[in-house]
Amino acid sequence: VTTTWFKTIPAAAVEQDGVARAQAGGQRVALYAVEGEYFATSDVCTHGQAFLSDGYLDGHLIECPLHQGLFDVRTGAAAGAPCTVPVRSFPVKIEDGVLYVQIEEA
Ligand code: FES
Repeated sequence: VTTTWFKTIPAAAVEQDGVARAQAGGQRVALYAVEGEYFATSDVCTHGQAFLSDGYLDGHLIECPLHQGLFDVRTGAAAGAPCTVPVRSFPVKIEDGVLYVQIEEA
């Protein structure tokens, strides 16, 4: 397993209490800003073919745009039907105003 920090987008590009999308390590990630803290998950819903970055963030919960399932952006845990499978979540750090996402690859 290798663990890599991938450079994504400027922190300022993520609206406070909002969600933005980026590419990291060849995959789509969703980046969230909640009360000055940043979180990252896979951008793809585990329930169907929808992007969480097209969804609606309420506190720490992201609502999928397709069937309104919920995930906790801090852990990726499924937090509302019809979602039952967690979405991958990734550590985030800021360096020089830029968000980096840590992804483990087999
Ligand atoms: Fe996300 Fe169904 S595709 S809740």
